Amino acid sequence: MVEIVTIDGPASSGKSTLAKKISIYYSAPLLSSGKLYRSIALEIKNKKIDTSDKKRVKSIINKLQDFNLNSKNLFLSDIDKIASKISSKKYIRDRLKKYQQEFPNRSARNAKYVIIEGRDIGTEIFPNARYKIFMWADAKVRAKRRFEQITKNGQKVSLRKVYSEIVLRDSKDLNRKIAPLKPAVNSVLLDTTYLDIEQTFNVMNTILK
Ligand code: DC
Repeated sequence: MVEIVTIDGPASSGKSTLAKKISIYYSAPLLSSGKLYRSIALEIKNKKIDTSDKKRVKSIINKLQDFNLNSKNLFLSDIDKIASKISSKKYIRDRLKKYQQEFPNRSARNAKYVIIEGRDIGTEIFPNARYKIFMWADAKVRAKRRFEQITKNGQKVSLRKVYSEIVLRDSKDLNRKIAPLKPAVNSVLLDTTYLDIEQTFNVMNTILK
């Protein structure tokens, strides 16, 4: 039977880098749930929809399976903001919950593991998952990592701005009423403040082995 691996944590804690590495190593299907929120946000932006227009937002969500989850535009900073805003809406979370819970059946085939990363995967989406990781890192370290990622892609931004956006997103993720970011009771806490990706991967691999 396929084992579900959940990886949760705040923005730029290294979840998606770790999840990608593990996914390649074990040929495990991977769902980065943040991309679901981001692709809805991108459609909202492209179609100039008001985020409070529930009817139109719902019609976007109904086309979720057609979205390109690999679009580079998903990581633009205005998409960060719209995604963060819509992620506090219950009807959106409920609809995405179903989509995420169906992911292992849709994609597992003969894989040993299926990996899903996000904010509430170990708490709300797969509370019975066998492996639950909660990643953390100091906000300043996360800001630096994000800054390097953004500038590497040719965008211009100041480290200070990236830091203040991370602190704001943390506060929204941690304090929202529905499915706030928090470690699942039976999760392993992985603080990557002083770990590079290789070291983080080794810890994760030890857990899975
Ligand atoms: O992981 P990310 O930065 O790509 O996530 C984008 C946004 O979606 C972020 O504001 C948090 C939100 N999100 C969420 O609320 N729940 C998830 N499971 C994944 C992401």
